[in-house]
Amino acid sequence: MQVTGSERRCLAVVLAAGEGTRMKSSRPKVLHDIAGRSMLGHVLASIQEAGIADVAVVVGPDRPDVEAEARAQAPGASLFVQRERLGTAHAVLAARDALARGYHEVLVLFADTPLIETATLIAMRRRLEAGNAVVALGFEAADPTGYGRLVTNGQRLNAIREHKDATESERAIRICNSGLMAIDGALALSLLDAVDQNNAQKEFYLTDIVGIACQRDLSTSYALAPEDEVMGVNDRVQLARAEALTQDRLRRKAMLNGATLQAPETVHFSFDTVLGRDVVIEPYVYFGPRVKVADHVAIHAFSHLEDTVVDSNASLGPFARTRPGSHVGAAAKIGNFVELKKANIGAGAAGTITCNYDGFFKYKTTIGAGAFIGANSSLVAPIRIGEGAYVGSGSVITKDVAPDQLAVARGKQMSKDGWGASFRAASEAKKKAKE
Ligand code: UD1
Ligand code: MG
Repeated sequence: MQVTGSERRCLAVVLAAGEGTRMKSSRPKVLHDIAGRSMLGHVLASIQEAGIADVAVVVGPDRPDVEAEARAQAPGASLFVQRERLGTAHAVLAARDALARGYHEVLVLFADTPLIETATLIAMRRRLEAGNAVVALGFEAADPTGYGRLVTNGQRLNAIREHKDATESERAIRICNSGLMAIDGALALSLLDAVDQNNAQKEFYLTDIVGIACQRDLSTSYALAPEDEVMGVNDRVQLARAEALTQDRLRRKAMLNGATLQAPETVHFSFDTVLGRDVVIEPYVYFGPRVKVADHVAIHAFSHLEDTVVDSNASLGPFARTRPGSHVGAAAKIGNFVELKKANIGAGAAGTITCNYDGFFKYKTTIGAGAFIGANSSLVAPIRIGEGAYVGSGSVITKDVAPDQLAVARGKQMSKDGWGASFRAASEAKKKAKE
C-alpha cells in the first residue's frame, strides 16, 4: 500500500555543529539571535510548522548551551554529537540511531541557514513523495563562487559538484546548492554509508549522495528557493542581513494583518510580537520578546516595549518604556517619558507615570481602574493607587492611595505680591552701580 501525505513519517536532521569562528564571539554561532530568537530556534520552528514531529539535532562536542537551546525549542528532539568535523555526510551520520528508526523521509537542514520557510520544506517533501530518492534545494546565486553547483538535465539532478572540485564549465552553472536536502528514508543510510572522502577537501560530502543515487538508477531532482531564503550566516554582517530580511517579513505580516505602520522600516519586531487590528504604530518603535497588543491601540513614536500585554484602545508614548511584567489595561493612557515594570495599569487609568524600584529588589505598582495620575509624578513601588483616585501632577507618592482619594505630595506653593517688579528694580540699580 502506498503511504501518502501526513502518514509519511519524516525525520528532520539539523546540523548545528558549526564552529562559527568568523562570528568572533564567545557564543556558538547558531545561538545568535534574529528577531529575538536563536538561529537554531528559527530552524526548529519552521520544522514544527511543516508538521514534522521527529527531529535530530547534531551538535559539536562540549556544547551544553546548544543542547539546552535545542531542548528548549524542540523538547522531543534527540541530540547527537559529531566528535570530529569530517564533512556534512559525516555530520548527518552522527544521527545514525535516529535514521535507523525507519522513516519514509529524511530532511537535512543547517542551523546556520535560519530563514528557511515551511512552504519550501513541504515542496521538498512533495518531490520525494513523487518518487525521487534525493531532492536537493537549489537557488540562483548572484555570485556562485564557493557554492556547490547543481548539474542538471531538465528536472533531473545528475550531480552536485563542490566549487573546489568543479571543472571550468561546471563553474559556469549559476544554480547553486543551498545545502538542504531531502532523502528517501528507506535509502538514506545506505546512500550516506557509500560516501567517501575522495575529493579536494578530503571530506565526506553529503552532496555526493546525488551521484551515488544516479549510479543506482534512482531518480533524483531538485527544488528552488529564493537566494535570500537560503542565505547562510557566517559572520555579523550576514547576521545583520538575516535580521533585516526577517524584520521585513514581520513588518509585512503585521501590516497584512491590519496594523498601520507609519514608517515600517523604523519599527523593530520580535518573532513573537502579536498585534490586533487597527493598531497604529508611529515611527521608531521597538518590540522586545513577548509583547501582545490588542485591537485599536496607538503606540506613539520612540516607544520600547518588552514582555507586556496592552489591552484594547490603550495608548502608549511617545517615549514610553514598558519592561517585563507590564500590563496596560483597556483604554489606559501611558504618557511620555514613562517607564513601567511589573506594573498593572487599570482600565482607563491615565497620566504620566514613573514606577520605581531600588537597585536590588523589584516591586509592583498597581493603578486601579479610572485613576488619574497627574503629569510628571513618581510612584515609588511597592504601591497601590485605588480605583478612581487622583494624584496631583509633580507628586512623589510613597504611600498607597485609597480609592477616590486625592493625593498631592510636593512642596506647598508660596505666592508673594509684587515680587517680580521689586526684584527687577533692585537688579537694575545694582547693575548701574557697577558701570
Ligand atoms: C555546503 C555544501 C555546498 C553548498 C553550501 C551552501 C556540502 C559538501 N557542500 O558547503 O554544496 O553550496 O553548503 O552554503 O555539503 N557541518 C557540520 N559538520 C561538518 C561539516 C559541516 O555540522 O563536519 C555543518 C556546518 O556547521 C554548516 C553545514 O554543515 O551548518 C554546511 O557546512 P559548511 O562547511 O558551511 O559547507 P560548505 O563548504 O559551505
Ligand atoms: Mg557554508
